[in-house]
Amino acid sequence: MACVVVVGSQWGDEGKGKLVDLLTQQVDAIVRFQGGNNAGHTLVVNDEKFILHLIPSGILHQDKVCYIGNGVIIDPNVLINEFAELNERGISTAPQRLRISDRAHVILPHHIALDKAREAALGEAAIGTTCRGIGPCYEDKAARVGVRMIDLLEPDTLKAKIAQAMAEKSFLLRKFYDTPLPSSDEVWRDYAEYGRILTPYITDVSLELHEAIQAGQNLLFEGAQGIHLDLDHGTYPYVTSSNPVAGSACVGAGLGPQHFSKIIGLVKAYTTRVGGGPFLSELHDANGNWLREKGQEYGSTTGRPRRCGWLDTVVIRQAVRLSGITSLAITKLDVLTGLPMLRICTGYQKADGGLLSYNSASLLIQSECTPVYEDYPGWEEDISTARAYADLPANCQAYLQAITRHVGVPLGYISVSPERNATIVMEHN
Ligand code: IMP
Repeated sequence: MACVVVVGSQWGDEGKGKLVDLLTQQVDAIVRFQGGNNAGHTLVVNDEKFILHLIPSGILHQDKVCYIGNGVIIDPNVLINEFAELNERGISTAPQRLRISDRAHVILPHHIALDKAREAALGEAAIGTTCRGIGPCYEDKAARVGVRMIDLLEPDTLKAKIAQAMAEKSFLLRKFYDTPLPSSDEVWRDYAEYGRILTPYITDVSLELHEAIQAGQNLLFEGAQGIHLDLDHGTYPYVTSSNPVAGSACVGAGLGPQHFSKIIGLVKAYTTRVGGGPFLSELHDANGNWLREKGQEYGSTTGRPRRCGWLDTVVIRQAVRLSGITSLAITKLDVLTGLPMLRICTGYQKADGGLLSYNSASLLIQSECTPVYEDYPGWEEDISTARAYADLPANCQAYLQAITRHVGVPLGYISVSPERNATIVMEHN
């Protein structure tokens, strides 16, 4: 198995947590490589619901090690609260089980304040960020004024870096956005305390992962968000500030590309998106409400209702190309049960009549396109107990076949209910 990457092929919220949890049983360690606590992975284990924002969901398996790579950005306060919530429920977050990169960047209060202030100032044109400080933290990283986890271990360095990072941003927030910030000394005191708590976790993750691979271990790389929220390849500017494409696992964990052989693309059986930005197959009708209510499509991080629509294979095809996806994991198929008719978007009709089979970089062109649909009859049968492809109703199989036909990649996994064991594993896996 060696290194497997799991990525969302739409706009995030594809139900990654459950597949990652299933695959975790076959690996020694789980690695996160990008994003921060803008992510939210929901898991249902023995009727207990877990929502994790930063720690890989592999933490629920006591014999596995979890890694947070250098490409992730960390709000230490959120991380420490996540420890407490897991510990209360009997899950160990001991440092031997969770290794955090010394090169990962740290979210500071001014990142969150700036994220909120900018979104408020944009009004109608807001990106709809999670307001967790994600963009501003990656900005500071690229501007080379960021604070890294290693800095939390060196109080004097930390003090100087926080003061440097905050000087310009405090001015901007106060003068331009009329938003006050705590003093850099107050921030330093809080973060030095976080550093004291996190010291035993902070390590050279790239080195440890390299050693794990040398020792023959199998690793699972858990992407966050979805490929169409990618800073380079998504629907810019309605994107996140990291790279959720599979290739980012190399940079965000500190490993070479030769280790990665299997890339699993998660595909929700329909489409959702939170925040602004193009979404051609979006529904504003009873079918959209059905998907939202039956699929419980409310953000696990922000609680916002998600925008819902038909499955869009243009989006999936593009994700396959951008990430080298080798098999698909279909999630939430059971949500479609009971809808009399299902539509699959197969291409976009341009204003000039031409057909697009991939997304254009131009938001103008995208806004002038209309989706081209194929219609499929739905199914009424309960599929939640299906454990083999042959158990699925004929109409359901036809829907799945249409997806693979339009996307050109085989199915690897089909999830038929939120329960941990309710997944059909296709034979070739
Ligand atoms: P940010 O990542 O908070 O800056 O938000 C940028 C965009 O990405 C917004 O549209 C968010 O709703 C979206 N986003 C960020 N993280 C997630 C996620 O985990 N699932 C779905 N959408 C996300």
